[in-house]
Amino acid sequence: MNILVTGGLGYIGSHTCVKLIEAGYTPIIIDNLYNSKKAVLERIAQITGKCPQLYIGDVRDKKLLTTIFSNNEISAVIHFAGLKAVGESVTIPLAYYDTNVYGSLCLAEVMQKHKVYNLIFSSSATVYGEKNPTPYIETFQTGNITSPYGWSKFMTEQCYIDLQHSEPNQWSISLLRYFNPVGAHPSGLIGEDPQGTPNNLMPYISQVAIGKRPFVSVYGDDYATPDGTGVRDYIHVDDLAEGHVATLQMINRAGIHCYNLGSGSGNSVLEVIAAYENACGHPIPYKIMPRRAGDIDAFWADASKAKKELGWQTRQTLADMARDSWNWQIKNPNGYIDGKE
Ligand code: NAD
Ligand code: UD1
Repeated sequence: MNILVTGGLGYIGSHTCVKLIEAGYTPIIIDNLYNSKKAVLERIAQITGKCPQLYIGDVRDKKLLTTIFSNNEISAVIHFAGLKAVGESVTIPLAYYDTNVYGSLCLAEVMQKHKVYNLIFSSSATVYGEKNPTPYIETFQTGNITSPYGWSKFMTEQCYIDLQHSEPNQWSISLLRYFNPVGAHPSGLIGEDPQGTPNNLMPYISQVAIGKRPFVSVYGDDYATPDGTGVRDYIHVDDLAEGHVATLQMINRAGIHCYNLGSGSGNSVLEVIAAYENACGHPIPYKIMPRRAGDIDAFWADASKAKKELGWQTRQTLADMARDSWNWQIKNPNGYIDGKE
C-alpha cells in the first residue's frame, strides 16, 4: 500500500518512513529539502533495505502533487511538511502561514481531486494554548496560542475539520498532537539534525555533551514544578513513528480522529539533563537563566485515547531517549553530510 509522506526526509518523517517500511507499507516522499538532506534517503535504505521513491518539491506546488497522485496509487497521506521553529514564526509569520496552512490546503485539494480521502496530519500540543490544565485531553477547547507557528497548526486543524464535515462519508482525517519528540533511531543512522543553534532542549544538551557548546541555559528554576524547572512530556521519536503506523488503522474510517501522542507523564529540564549525563557518562554544565518568553510551567498528555482506540502507547523511557540521542550525536557529530554517504 502506497503512503505519500510529505516532509518524509525530516526528523519525524524519516523515522516514520522506516516504521512504515517495516510494517509492509510503501512510503513515497515529497520534500523540498528546506530542512533536510537527500542523504537521509540513503540512511532509510541502509536501515530497511528499501529506498523510498523521492519527489524533490514543494507541497504548495499543485502541479507536482497532481503528477504524484496521477503516477502512483496513493492510499493515504501522512502530512509532515512544514516549518516548525516557534521563535522564527514570530519574526516571519507569513512564511509560516504560507507553508503550513496554504501548503496543507494545496495538499487536501489535490487529494480531493484524486479521491484520496485518508489523511494524517502532524499537529502539536501547542494547540492547547496557555489556559488549559494539564494533562491535556483531546476534548479540551484549543486556542489562546502564543505563536504564529501554533496558530498555523490550529488553523490547519480547523480547515481539515471543515473539509471533513463537508464530505463526512468520505474523509478520514487524523489530527495527531505531538508532545515533545526526542531521541533517534537506535542504529544512529537517522536522528534530529538542527541547523544553527538548536531551539529545543534535548538537541541543545547533545551539543553541550559533545563539546560544541559550553553549557545548557536552563530557562527558569522558579516554575511551580517539583524542582522549579519546566516539565514536558518527552516522547521517543520511534514511539511517535509507530503512532503513525497505528493511526493508519483509521484508514477508510470516515471522521475526524484526534489523538494526543505523548507518554502521559512529564519530566523536568533538570531530569532531562541528568538522564543525558547518564547516557554520555560525563557531567553536563548548565546555568540557570531567566524564563524564556512564552513558556509555561508544565504540560503533558492524557494519552489514554490513543491507547484505547489505536492500541498504541509509548514504550521507551527518558533513559532510552537520551541513550539514542547520544548515539546519534556521537556517530554524526556534524549531522547529515550530503555527498559523503
Ligand atoms: P523537520 O523540519 O525535520 O521536517 C519537516 C520536513 O518538511 C523537512 O524535511 C523539510 O525539508 C520539509 N518541508 C518543509 N517545508 C516544505 C514544503 N513547503 N514542501 C515540502 N517539504 C517541506 O520537522 P519535524 O520535527 O520532523 O516535524 C514534522 C512535522 O511535525 C512538522 O509539521 C512539525 O510542525 C510537526 N511537529 C513537530 C514537533 C517537533 O518537536 N519536532 C512537535 C509537534 C509537531
Ligand atoms: C517547543 C515548542 C512547541 C513544540 C515543541 C515540540 C516553544 C515555545 N514551544 O515546546 O510549540 O510543539 O517544542 O518539541 O518553543 N529549555 C531550556 N533550555 C533550552 C531549551 C529549552 O531550559 O535551551 C526548557 C524550556 O523552557 C522547556 C523545556 O526545556 O521547559 C522544553 O523546551 P523545548 O524543547 O523547547 O520544548 P517546548 O518549549 O515544550
